[in-house]
Amino acid sequence: MARRKKIYEGKAKTLFEGPEPGTLVQYFKDDATAFNAEKKDVIEGKGVLNNMLSEYFMTGLTNIGVPNHFIRRLNMREQLVRACEIIPLEIIVRNFAAGSLSKRLGIEEGTALPRPIIEYCYKDDRLGDPLVGEEHIAAFGWASQQDMDDIVSLALRVNDFLSGVMYGVGIKLVDFKIEVGRVYDGDFQRLIVADEISPDSCRLWDVATGQKLDKDVFRRDLGSLTDAYTEVARRLGVMPKGSAVPIKPTLIN
Ligand code: TMP
Ligand code: ASP
Repeated sequence: MARRKKIYEGKAKTLFEGPEPGTLVQYFKDDATAFNAEKKDVIEGKGVLNNMLSEYFMTGLTNIGVPNHFIRRLNMREQLVRACEIIPLEIIVRNFAAGSLSKRLGIEEGTALPRPIIEYCYKDDRLGDPLVGEEHIAAFGWASQQDMDDIVSLALRVNDFLSGVMYGVGIKLVDFKIEVGRVYDGDFQRLIVADEISPDSCRLWDVATGQKLDKDVFRRDLGSLTDAYTEVARRLGVMPKGSAVPIKPTLIN
């Protein structure tokens, strides 16, 4: 078989040229990194779990009308996605204080925020993805004012959807990160949710016990990351315990 053309290799995923123009194959690796790759490990099975979980969340977003890049899952580690121009921002939505917000502002982790807070980081590994404000985004032309309005709307819709889905299985959505990309439909340009939505990019706490079920387990050496992600997948019915076969989420047309 001819080798596929690699388009981009990130820390946790690789993008290959897709089978049709305008598509890409997104491959989920087992690599885990934290603190801008200062901490690294290979966590067996993480890529499979994130592939399934991202499929589950993106399919749900499609079903409620939130545009995103997911087309279909190809196999245990790969999904077909729509190619887009990634806006160079990490868009973070926070419902409860944690992580860098708690550190920066001295707010105890777990404190409920009076309203969801949206933050932006400029995507540049050499700089460690620094926090930026709308002034920087406008001044350096990373996104237009219309883009920013659309980004806020997408981020809040994803927040409401994910918070509800998680709460339904006893998990509190503390915060998460999304990436957004630009696609062109003829002359019309619009923004879609891209990248992945998985426990790598969310903070998920058990509602009853506060147990962490996300990448903080790796960042803070709290136990088995695979066990934590498997528990999220099991509760959502994505991959029942003891089963090697994922359940395909239904796409409603
Ligand atoms: P933070 O508290 O470290 O700023 O992280 C906020 C959220 O963003 C958290 O859910 C983890 C996610 N995140 C990423 O997905 N990628 C990253 O590189 C970082 C730093 C955070
Ligand atoms: N994505 C970042 C890294 O690779 C860090 C993180 O998620 O904490 O190092």
